[in-house]
Amino acid sequence: MSFLSKLKEFFFKNDKIKVGGGEKANLKQAAMGKMTARERINALLDEDSFFEFDLFVKHAGKDFGMDKKDLPADGVITGSGTILGYPVCIYAQDFTVAGGSLGLAHARKITKIMDHSIKMGIPLIGINDSGGARIQEGVNSLAGYGEIFYRNTLASGVIPQISVILGPCAGGAVYSPALTDFVFVVDKISKMFITGPEVIKTVLGEEISMEDLGGAKIQSEITGNAHFFAQTEMECFEQIRRLCSFIPFNNSKKANPYPAKNPKSKYAVENIIPADPSQPYDVRRVIYSIVDDSDFFEVQEFWAANIVIGFARINGDTVGIVGNQPLVLAGVLDVDSSDKAARFIRFCDAFNIPLLTLVDLPGYLPGVDQEYAGVIRHGAKILYAYSEATVPKVTVILRKAYGGGYIAMCSRHLGADFVFAWPTAEIAVMGPEGAANIIFKNEIAEAGDPNEMRRQKVAEYTEKFANPYVAASNGYIDAVINPQETRKFLIQTLQLSKQKKESRPLKKHGIPPF
Ligand code: HXC
Repeated sequence: MSFLSKLKEFFFKNDKIKVGGGEKANLKQAAMGKMTARERINALLDEDSFFEFDLFVKHAGKDFGMDKKDLPADGVITGSGTILGYPVCIYAQDFTVAGGSLGLAHARKITKIMDHSIKMGIPLIGINDSGGARIQEGVNSLAGYGEIFYRNTLASGVIPQISVILGPCAGGAVYSPALTDFVFVVDKISKMFITGPEVIKTVLGEEISMEDLGGAKIQSEITGNAHFFAQTEMECFEQIRRLCSFIPFNNSKKANPYPAKNPKSKYAVENIIPADPSQPYDVRRVIYSIVDDSDFFEVQEFWAANIVIGFARINGDTVGIVGNQPLVLAGVLDVDSSDKAARFIRFCDAFNIPLLTLVDLPGYLPGVDQEYAGVIRHGAKILYAYSEATVPKVTVILRKAYGGGYIAMCSRHLGADFVFAWPTAEIAVMGPEGAANIIFKNEIAEAGDPNEMRRQKVAEYTEKFANPYVAASNGYIDAVINPQETRKFLIQTLQLSKQKKESRPLKKHGIPPF
């Protein structure tokens, strides 16, 4: 065969496979408002940067008529490319081919690209659009998912792992993402569940729509399974590219620095904290007032909103920010906010991202609901995560730092390198009202005018403890600072911490309160 004929054959074979499930299936995908797997990869990666591997891999199914079926590329596209000029490994499941279901060959394509990611030390991006384990391949498809989960776990803390959910994803197609660092969803397109509505109807006799079972909003607001929510696939890809700008390739690197920029002047730090300590404010305003260009990339914005987490830059370098949100439940720590913060802290620690903690909370949320939901176990995660973290840790106490909340929010006692307090800080075992009611109970009860006595005792307690100076006099706080100088202090201390080295006792691994 001549060179030209071979080339013709090559293009013919390539094109045949690249149409995936065929024109009709692709039209169906488009009718659902979904891009094809190939369009997704090309839209996410830098232009013309994608190199595909294993296009010619054939599926391994033999039963239920599968041996007669041609499943192009076995329903998954794998390869490498670049984002913002830096290399990534990527796979995208193709729902037009057997619903993107995962058989053995499909799984082997994914595990090969995962192995490359781990060996080369570059991020892994998985675009999931799959009904999970391919039913016709039985235990072989389960084996495939097991091998993916194993590698997700090996890769955890070594390379960033990003999952995108772009279709109805069931079983392994959601458990692999759950093992990764960030999960992106798109309104009306993404669905996540361990089993779909059909199975629920069969097993439980209940009817539920896919959207109500595990739509993008549910995963972003209720379950906390998703970290980023977008309206469209293109918006989602922009979010992924933005995330990549803040994080390093792997755990031996630091995130790329960017040119430093001052915060926007409209976010001046003064007047953010209301005069009345019981009044809320948006902690994001404090963040905007101290980070470069007032640019904050929030993670899990819609779930456990009583804590705010996300990435920003200070003087050009990435920081991970954890801040109590007085706007929601007064910024308390509860089951979900503890989980949310703890996981983020561990990501930052694994990937050399310094932690900035902004404190304003009345403590852990009391009550039967929280106790029954396991607030002791979940709340312990944040204590563990901060204590374990050896990246630079800088804490600023803005207002309330009461009780366990004071300790948990990266206090000096959990290993913070630098702790600053604004003059508005109140550091005490509990708020003045509650404290006076307990420790002056008898005096208040026996007074001729109990209300006046309570007022006096609250004032006495406030004077003594609701300030930063007692903590400062014990050296628990390094400086009480003028809020306007917060950024200056942060730049200075982060600069000082650039070469920080801190070790921990040798161990195989710790046992966090999962
Ligand atoms: C084989 C599958 C499949 C699967 C979908 N398809 N899921 N084929 N194995 N798991 C095929 C369908 O037969 C159909 O093929 C095509 O994909 C599109 O599926 P539809 O059902 O028509 O699409 P839709 O109505 O959008 O529903 C999507 C769905 C549903 C919600 C994903 O298909 C579904 O419930 N699938 C099963 C989900 C599930 O329970 N998976 C097993 C998980 S267990 P045709 O030829 O008609 O186009 C698992 C093990 C890991 O993953 C465990 C982790 C711990």
